[in-house]
Amino acid sequence: MKVAVIGLGYVGVPVAAVLASKGIRVVGIDIDPRKVERVGAGATPLEGYEPGLAELIAEGAASGLLKATTDYDAMADADAVVVSVETPIDDATHDPEYKALRSALRSIAPRLHKGALVSIESTVAPRTMTGLVRPILERGSGLRAGRDFHLVHSPERVTAGKLLRNLTTLDRVIGAEDARARRAARTLYSQISSGALHDADWVSAEITKTAENAYRDVQIAFSNEVALICEELGANAYRVRELVNTCPGRDMLIPGAGVGGHCIPKDPWLLVSPVIHQKPVLIPTAREVNDFMPTRMAQLVEEAMREVGRRIRNSQVAILGFAFRENTEDSRNSPAIPLIRELRRRGADVTIHDPFAKSLRGFTITRDLGAALRGADCLALVTAHDDYRTLDLKKLRGWMRHRAIVDGRNVFDGSVIKRGFSYRAIGKGEF
Ligand SMILES: NC(=O)c1ccc[n+]([C@@H]2O[C@H](COP(=O)([O-])OP(=O)(O)OC[C@H]3O[C@@H](n4cnc5c(N)ncnc54)[C@H](O)[C@@H]3O)[C@@H](O)[C@H]2O)c1
Repeated sequence: MKVAVIGLGYVGVPVAAVLASKGIRVVGIDIDPRKVERVGAGATPLEGYEPGLAELIAEGAASGLLKATTDYDAMADADAVVVSVETPIDDATHDPEYKALRSALRSIAPRLHKGALVSIESTVAPRTMTGLVRPILERGSGLRAGRDFHLVHSPERVTAGKLLRNLTTLDRVIGAEDARARRAARTLYSQISSGALHDADWVSAEITKTAENAYRDVQIAFSNEVALICEELGANAYRVRELVNTCPGRDMLIPGAGVGGHCIPKDPWLLVSPVIHQKPVLIPTAREVNDFMPTRMAQLVEEAMREVGRRIRNSQVAILGFAFRENTEDSRNSPAIPLIRELRRRGADVTIHDPFAKSLRGFTITRDLGAALRGADCLALVTAHDDYRTLDLKKLRGWMRHRAIVDGRNVFDGSVIKRGFSYRAIGKGEF
């Protein structure tokens, strides 16, 4: 068996490496020559720590089973083609942006042969399989899905930091329109995951994947809304959450400074994008609530500084944490980004500290806490990195010009007030 994996990102790389580890010949195809070069050389092209992945790629390359190229001709004799290119949304309209998917499918189609399996692992909006994927593949190949080749949608469920574990153990959904395609996909995926394989049709698989992440987003938005209510009414949302969860069947999530990551901020928009007659209200509103949290942080910064007699214009605000998830360097769609933009818009000068995340254009990150905090009028904590749980308040007092703390992750508590700081926090209205 030979498998072509199209798109060597967070999804494609572990899929390719795991298949090669099962003795299957794998060719990874990407338009990014740097990624191809890395995988070809037996190294990971991904950022962040992924247990076991670097070793698996190295073994695959050394055995000759895992190859990588930018040349689509290498897939011509593949029995299966896994598509894992990015599927973002347009920032302004929130509509799906399928440039990469279209381009990949157009390159695959003329090289597709009879009997091959094509599995779309990328997350797509409902009806994309019928409206976009099948037509492009059929037109470009002259073959018919279901008759000449097998076409399935088996969306990926991996999370950065746990790519291999998720990929090889989680249940997965196989969306197929006919029994032969389902059988071919089951043969492929039973090599990859020990989890159960669940049958669905294309549209149910598309809805399931996007609904999984929309569900999470709505749950977080609920907690964030309760947090905003607690702030206004003088309660502590973290204590309220604990109390709510003593009631059977309740599992309120933790509120915070905002939602980031690759999937949660975009998949809810993919889910609602094809809907015309029903008007989804809850899911877009949840997006709005979660997108508001960085603005709320900026408001709290203004409030905390006002209490110490400092205006935001020309002030210095130190952001602690740029990654969206604690103890990682992953800053994709981090709420720190809109927060920093908002603070700059209000006239603040911003310094950014993160122990792991790398600088981006316009966002220079220091690893030196003192450098970020020296002369600061306010500290705004966005990410609950472990390093921030043991901050030395005496040192902070020495470094900062004004003593104001805004806590987006429940890392501090009211004791900082006794230590001479003004304190504002997401979800804490009791101070
Ligand atoms: N990252 C995750 O944790 C995760 C989890 C579940 C599902 N997904 C979904 O999987 C898909 C891929 O996500 P990702 O995080 O791996 O993206 P990514 O951006 O890390 O990787 C995508 C890769 O595809 C390549 N590419 C783009 N156009 C191409 C083309 N025409 N031909 C060949 N290669 C091309 C890019 O160069 C890139 O290397 C998305 O639909 C995403 O929503 C991602």
